[in-house]
Amino acid sequence: KQAASPVGLTLAGEINQLLENAFRACGLPTSHARAARASRPEWGELQCNGALPLAKSLGRPPREIAAAVAEQLRAGGGFDVVEVAGAGFVNLKLSAALLARHAQAQLDDPACGIVQETRQRIMLDYGGPNVAKPLHVGHLRSLVIGESLRRILRAQGHDTVSDVHLGDWGLQMGMLIAQIRRDFPSLSCFAPQPELAAASLDEASLGFGMQDLQRLYPLAAAACKDDPARMAEARELTAALQAGHSGYIALWRAIRAISLQVQQQDFAALDVHFDLLLGESDVQALIPPMLSELRERGIGIESEGALVVQVAEENDAHPMPPLLLAKSDGAALYATTDLATILSRVRDSDVAPARIIYVVDQRQALHFEQVFRAARRAGYAPGVELVHAGFGTVNGVDGKPYKTRQGGVAQLADLLNGAIDKARERLGALAADAAEQGAGVDQAVQAETLARLVGIAAVKFADLSSYRISGYIFDPERMVSFEGKTGPYVQYACVRIGSILARAAAQQLQPGPIEVAAEAERALVFECARFPEVVASAATNLAPNEIADYVFNLAQTFSRFYLDCPVLAAESAERCASRLAISTLARRVLERGLYLLGIAVPEKM
Ligand code: ARG
Repeated sequence: KQAASPVGLTLAGEINQLLENAFRACGLPTSHARAARASRPEWGELQCNGALPLAKSLGRPPREIAAAVAEQLRAGGGFDVVEVAGAGFVNLKLSAALLARHAQAQLDDPACGIVQETRQRIMLDYGGPNVAKPLHVGHLRSLVIGESLRRILRAQGHDTVSDVHLGDWGLQMGMLIAQIRRDFPSLSCFAPQPELAAASLDEASLGFGMQDLQRLYPLAAAACKDDPARMAEARELTAALQAGHSGYIALWRAIRAISLQVQQQDFAALDVHFDLLLGESDVQALIPPMLSELRERGIGIESEGALVVQVAEENDAHPMPPLLLAKSDGAALYATTDLATILSRVRDSDVAPARIIYVVDQRQALHFEQVFRAARRAGYAPGVELVHAGFGTVNGVDGKPYKTRQGGVAQLADLLNGAIDKARERLGALAADAAEQGAGVDQAVQAETLARLVGIAAVKFADLSSYRISGYIFDPERMVSFEGKTGPYVQYACVRIGSILARAAAQQLQPGPIEVAAEAERALVFECARFPEVVASAATNLAPNEIADYVFNLAQTFSRFYLDCPVLAAESAERCASRLAISTLARRVLERGLYLLGIAVPEKM
């Protein structure tokens, strides 16, 4: 690509290209033709240190190399200042014209300058809620991180398919059926002729809803824990369900539907989207043939009555236990289902993913390593990259895993409502301030929508702003603050720019050609230009926190710009038009960055 055209090139890419041209013109290898932001202002804006390592390998004085490069850089254009300093550094200041041209191109680009990668079909497995159990804090993390990764990878040009992978099969279903049999004995599925139940039992005729399920599940779990007889009954019922007992299947189907309905409301509230709502139950038919095939091929071997796959490899730093596929009683396990799910996703669906990313608790790292190895040994995922994007635990302010005040596992709804309540308080204070200053107070409905938008943004940003493997502290008080590195702070910055732009529009002031003169303008344009690199890096590292850091910095950079550079009251019409254009760019990049975190921006705040 031509250095003269910023299209398809990030600003850093363009700068590197200018340097490469200069190095080449000096007959130097281009491997060190790189510039980075100078770490101290007195070193200029950018610094190229390439002469130093080259001097070593070429046996020439570093200052001589730097001087030659500097001469070529001056001749090539693109820089307003080119200076040789110290032992052989080249200090640079990018030309105002180039910076302005780049900013303009970024503003005109609907993708905000993001350079798309070679398209890959990527499957994302996140959420993973269990049927009949409410979503908890771990599911929250999976949903929030998974959704952000989906948006980031799409922005990079990939084709994504998200699957919720419901926990809708296994012992928990038998436990629940045992409880329902006690509390609702007259349901048709418990009648002597359960075949009839299949026809008559649906969500409507069940006679209970999610509320009951949420109450029944803990009862069922407690009873099974305390009473071995009840546990045995749950196992029997699970086995009957899995063997296809038509009454239990009908009951299971109705329970799953109710549960999924409620969970879909949670997904919608969180602005989380799934292309597929498949679950563990969907691959159960694949398991028996898969197990016999693995046995036949000698990959699945008997060990103390169980069926296992050896997954240890020669250079393992840690002992790698074999993967357990079936217990001695023949019952399949969590891992069996995950292995069958790979088979189904790769072989039986038309998704044909090049990569499958699992956004699941880091404590399941060993499980996924074993499953991935088994899949590779069995040849179930040829050419498919299997990735576990793990995350750490959510802790309370005491540093211990987050619990409710009663000491139970915190449910998603409680967490969100806690944050929304806090947001409502803060916004109330803000609205009161605004009212004092003469601005109107929003209507109650708008205020409620706003509290939700802000509360959810607060939770998502807090979750996404540290690297996912580290845990974080769930502190509603802190996360809804309008100061510091929080979602509401960045949302507010975005809204503020929006209101500046709206005021300009009301005064018939239009954005115009970008000119970059003041230091604060340069800083803002530079920061905006970093966006494509940040998104690319976040996609490579599966690290939304890089975008969270970035939008926070950008919001701060805008604040400094706004302090130094009056927009509506600029010195001249041209200045005003240019600053409106730069502000529009900053607003677009901020909004896009927040979008990639799954965060929406309210109109007013
Ligand atoms: N249902 C599981 C849980 O609640 C999470 C499922 C994660 N995804 C997977 N493919 N194993 O812990």
